[in-house]
Formats: sequence, C-alpha cells, structure tokens
Amino acid sequence: MSDIAAPEVWLWQRLETLARSVLARYGFEELRTPIVEFESVFTRSLGETTDVVQKEMYVFEKGGRRLALRPEGTAGVMRHAAGLGVPETDGARWFYVGPMFRSERPQAGRRRQFHQIGVECLEPPSPLVDAEILALQVELLRAWGLCDCQVRLGTRGQAGAHGPVAEGLRSALEPHRLHLCEDCQRRFAGNVLRVLDCKNPDCQAVVAQLPAPVDFMDESARAYLADVAAHLDQLGVAYQIDPRLVRGLDYYEHTVWEIEGSGLGAQNAVAGGGRYKMKIGSRELVGVGFAIGLERVVAMLAALGRDQDLLVQPPPLVWLVGMGEEATRQNLVLMQSLRAGGLACRMAPGGSLKSQMRAANKAGAAWCIIRGEQELSQANATLKNMSTGDQRLVVLESLVAEIVTAAPPL
Ligand code: HAM
Repeated sequence: MSDIAAPEVWLWQRLETLARSVLARYGFEELRTPIVEFESVFTRSLGETTDVVQKEMYVFEKGGRRLALRPEGTAGVMRHAAGLGVPETDGARWFYVGPMFRSERPQAGRRRQFHQIGVECLEPPSPLVDAEILALQVELLRAWGLCDCQVRLGTRGQAGAHGPVAEGLRSALEPHRLHLCEDCQRRFAGNVLRVLDCKNPDCQAVVAQLPAPVDFMDESARAYLADVAAHLDQLGVAYQIDPRLVRGLDYYEHTVWEIEGSGLGAQNAVAGGGRYKMKIGSRELVGVGFAIGLERVVAMLAALGRDQDLLVQPPPLVWLVGMGEEATRQNLVLMQSLRAGGLACRMAPGGSLKSQMRAANKAGAAWCIIRGEQELSQANATLKNMSTGDQRLVVLESLVAEIVTAAPPL
C-alpha cells in the first residue's frame, strides 16, 4: 500500500478529471459505496472458490459480524442496486473511483491497496451494449494517451449452461489430473474453470493442450460473441478473440474481456470487464461493466514517458510576507480576499523576513506580497516576482489584477 503524493498526485487528479468528462458523455453517474461491506456481499457474487475470495480478501470481525475490505467494486454497486426498486435500477449507469484491497503477494504491478475506475451498466442484456461499454473503456484509455492497448475478447457462455463446459473440461483434464498443482486438484472438483487461470507453469502446460471452454458451449453463446465482435468492428475498436479467456471472478456470463498494456511486465492487465449476472436476495441483477487499475495506468504512462504531459500543475502560489505583528495580522485578512479573487495563497507567520522568504522559495511560490508598517499606512504592497526577482509597489486593489494578468489561473 502506498501514499500518493505530489507531484504524482497531480497526475492522478488529471486522470480522474479526464475520466469524469468521458463518463459524463456516456451518461454515467458517480456512485460512492463504502470501502467496508459484509463479507457475504463478496462471497455470494464473486464466487466462493475464486482466488480473490479464498486467498485475497481482508476479512475481520466486528460486533459479531464478518466484514471485508472491498476487493473490487461490482459487488458493492450491485448490493446498492438490490436495495432499490426495479424502476430505479432499470437502465442505471454508475461509475466509481476508489481504493480496492487484495492481500496478494507483493510484486511489481500488484498492490494490496490499489485504485480502480470502474463502471456498471444495468441495461437489458444486449451485445450492442457490451460493445458500447467496451468502446467506452478503450476511449478512456485513449483520453489518457494510451492508444496502443490490446483487447482480448472472450465468452463465458450463458450462466445456466456452465454445466456442459465444466463437464467437458473435467473429462479433458482427467488424464492430466496428477500433474496439476494442489490448488488445481481442488479446483478440478469445485470449480474447474479456475484451473484455466492458474499461474503455476505445470498447470499452464496442461491447460495449453486442452480444448477451449468455448468448444463446449452451445451455438447461442458463440452467436452472442459474434454479435459483440460485429458491433466492435462497426465502431472501429480493435480486439483479438481469445477462446481461453475466463477471467478470475465467477459472476460473469457471455462477454468477457481483458485489456493489456505495454511496459507493465508480468502483471500486464490494465483493465478487465464483462457481462455478469448476480442473484441478491429475491433480485436477479444483470449488467455489464469494467474496471481499470489506475496504478497500472500510471506505470504505463511512466514507461512511455507520457506521465509528464498529463501533470496538472497547481495554480501559481502567492506568498504573503509580513514584517511586524500588525502587518502579519493584516496579511491574514488580505490573504482571504486574494483567495476570494481566485488566487492560491499561503503565509508563514511569525518568522523574520528572511525565514518567510525562505519558506516561500521552498513552497515554490511564484509571487511574494511583502508588507511592513510603511505599506500598511499607504494601502499598498511590494509585489515580488520570484522567478525574475523583479519587485515593485502595487496598490492593494490592483494586486489580483496584476497577478492574474501576468499568470492567468489554470
Ligand atoms: P479485475 O480484473 O479483478 O476486475 O480488476 C480490474 C483491474 O484492476 C485489473 O485489470 C488491474 O489493472 C487492477 N488490479 C487488480 N488487482 C490489482 C492489484 N493487486 N494491484 C494493482 N492493480 C490491480 C474487477 O475488479 C471487476 N470488478 C471488473 C468488472 C466490473 N467486471 C464487471 N464490472
């Protein structure tokens, strides 16, 4: 888990601002769900046998209830939806930005706290909507300057038809069963699709020889995928069909995708998403959505040398310097009126002129406004341009105009 401080945090702010404007154009509203939920919110929808639920969730007990730090955003959004009526959720489009938690083995690209921007769209299932949402994800990455990502597209088939896929995979795996890792021995019986996701090289060697899950699906699943692909072609979104793509969460049905970026090393998935179905209480909710890992976006931008282009510098800082107690007191009032005029201001009250100027330099102030007894009596101030060193007397009423003319606020 890491802190995100300036100047990197300026990049994060810029990414979020750009994303919000793209998301608004697609009709998405922000939804802020709690970081802590009942554990069951995740176990019931992500799947009991997924790695995220079995190994990676931070779970704790409080007041006799089992709670968890959210490992992803979809389950919380659907918990929210399930509490609403059908009219409120029908056609809802929500996005979220925030931290997620997975207790994974730390390595490059894997954080225990990481951040996602994600969307969930609860419109009636349709390949057209799936294509629109995938196109949105590609547009978001483009808005950040990431134009060279690879989209892998696959299908999980219809939720009710998972039986034949599991059976087909089990019989294909049976002769290789003893070569699978301990986890996969368990997955074989419990949730055989998860074997396809295993990172163990021996298991991967076995998986490479298996037929793809799509080979065990019925015609309707293949037709749905072909429809999504046709809409993407129409939209000019490039993709590669990956018949083995299953994704690590159990709620998916039909369309799934993953987006890979360059410069990320082994953890090269920058984003993933798909269509899903969840039963929560008496409600069955279907939707399509995705999440983008922001740490990975930042890493990609840095690897491409594009992070600096996106940094939003804070507005030029004005530092108020007071010589003497009265000037310092009056500067507090002046500072508020300058802020009301749109300027970013600070001061370091109490020190000598030298120490105040040092503080201004350290903070990277663009301007200093210096006042002593004489300036107070004449209702003016010395305005110093910190980059050129030029300074001159300016009447108080003109201070904002003088500074804004020289450097308009961003
Ligand atoms: P996910 O593939 O588990 O999907 O995560 C989405 C993205 O979050 C990944 O592609 C990756 O960039 C980032 N990510 C995941 N784990 C970590 C980690 N430990 N450290 C850094 N980044 C990480 C989901 O979370 C689904 N909820 C997406 C979704 C929404 N599907 C439908 N709607």
